Amino acid sequence: MTQPRPETLQKLTPVLTKRWLSPDAWKIDVYQQLDGYAALRKVLTGAPDGRGRDADPVHPDDLIKLIKDSGLRGRGGAGFPTGLKWGFIPQGDGKPHYLVVNADEGEPGTCKDLPLMMYDPHSLVEGVIIASYAIRASRAFIYIRGEAVHAARRLRNAVDEAYRAGYLGKDILGSGFDLDLVVHSGAGAYICGEETALLDSLEGFRGQPRLRPPFPATHGLYACPTVVNNVGTISSVPYIVLGGAAWWKSMGTEKSSGPMIYSLSGRIANPGQYECSMGITLRELIELAGGMQPGHELRFWTPGGSSTPLLTAEHLDVPLDFEGVAGAGSILGTTATQIFSDQDCPVYATYRWLEFYHHESCGKCTPCREGNYWMVRVFRRILAGQGTHEDLDTLLDTCDNILGRSFCGLGDGATSSVTSSLKYFKQDYLDYIEGRTAPKLSEKALVGAH
Ligand SMILES: Cc1cc2nc3c(=O)[nH]c(=O)nc-3n(C[C@H](O)[C@H](O)[C@H](O)COP(=O)(O)O)c2cc1C
Ligand code: SF4
Repeated sequence: MTQPRPETLQKLTPVLTKRWLSPDAWKIDVYQQLDGYAALRKVLTGAPDGRGRDADPVHPDDLIKLIKDSGLRGRGGAGFPTGLKWGFIPQGDGKPHYLVVNADEGEPGTCKDLPLMMYDPHSLVEGVIIASYAIRASRAFIYIRGEAVHAARRLRNAVDEAYRAGYLGKDILGSGFDLDLVVHSGAGAYICGEETALLDSLEGFRGQPRLRPPFPATHGLYACPTVVNNVGTISSVPYIVLGGAAWWKSMGTEKSSGPMIYSLSGRIANPGQYECSMGITLRELIELAGGMQPGHELRFWTPGGSSTPLLTAEHLDVPLDFEGVAGAGSILGTTATQIFSDQDCPVYATYRWLEFYHHESCGKCTPCREGNYWMVRVFRRILAGQGTHEDLDTLLDTCDNILGRSFCGLGDGATSSVTSSLKYFKQDYLDYIEGRTAPKLSEKALVGAH
């Protein structure tokens, strides 16, 4: 393992992760000792630093403006401007408004929301209360992945603590603002991370995406105005309230402000979460993670989970912000950087991801349901040493029929690794087809593959 240079270490900007190493930071007493609920006090009681009471409460519209000014963009994958989303909620419409936090975190390789909820659940709860106040919601939900039992338990405990401390329920901190918060566990389906499928699931239906328009901002949960935001997005809010928009913008790049939790996995010495200003490069992240594992050389990587096109060692210096990654032909996504080496096979990795998409496809639309089914079969054929040159055209043609023609982003995401691995690593495919690489799958995998 190599030690990062001091100038690279300075690129770490622990904001959302700053409490993670404090013992028992998930307990409300410790959280409060470490500035917890100061932002909420500032918003609801007017105390400038969260203590005392010598100014007016912050008006909900001023909060929305603050979030707009900070340039905060959603941490769930698409990077939509958060303040703009909150501003879409119609006011004075007489309908209930809802805040729904997307804690489904199912994208392969992604691991930032779960540790956030494990180590610092109160920052999410505090963010929920402030965001609900801003959009005038009196009921909020956190939809958490069914398998994440440990995080759900910790979150429910934090919600109970917040009720007991008077941060949730009726007349919060004497402000007249009421909020109830429900933690709801899903049943473990990747598609339920897609915001409209999540809303259907929350309403008790089978989780499948809804036709848009209408959008959740006007017809969301129970057909009422709803904001759906990622865990990281909402957890950022208390920090922006206390630190201000200019401070938040002092980190990151012009159009991608603030810090970001990059989750690093794969062939590196120290996998884990690294919070840095947006725009850091993979070269710097690998240095922070102690370098590649001994004997491994970087060959390909995902900048934001398996739904984002692969990049290669040529892209080590691409700034990892929304624009920089798009400029290199990929997507920042969930900043899940999965790192593969010269000892990993891009064809096999792509096949494993495709198995995932095929399994998780909800079946609502034909391009994704049928296209992924067929692509898995073509990959099995290639990996069993029985592929043909024509199979490569079939794969590209199938991707062409899925991308942009599917009902939701799952279908589009499934094609990313196929088209990008064929772009950068066509020779690896040819090596299987022309017999230079030994088959990775046995004949058994071919049942139904032709
Ligand atoms: C198949 C699919 C899965 C998704 N999974 C998640 C998820 O697990 N967590 C998440 O926050 N967003 C996920 N999204 C994105 C959400 O639809 C939505 O854009 C996001 O929750 C909005 O929050 P943000 O604006 O704070 O990023 C997914 C999208 C798709 C198409
Ligand atoms: S793209 Fe896939 S997951 Fe999305 S609606 Fe169509 S079948 Fe369902």
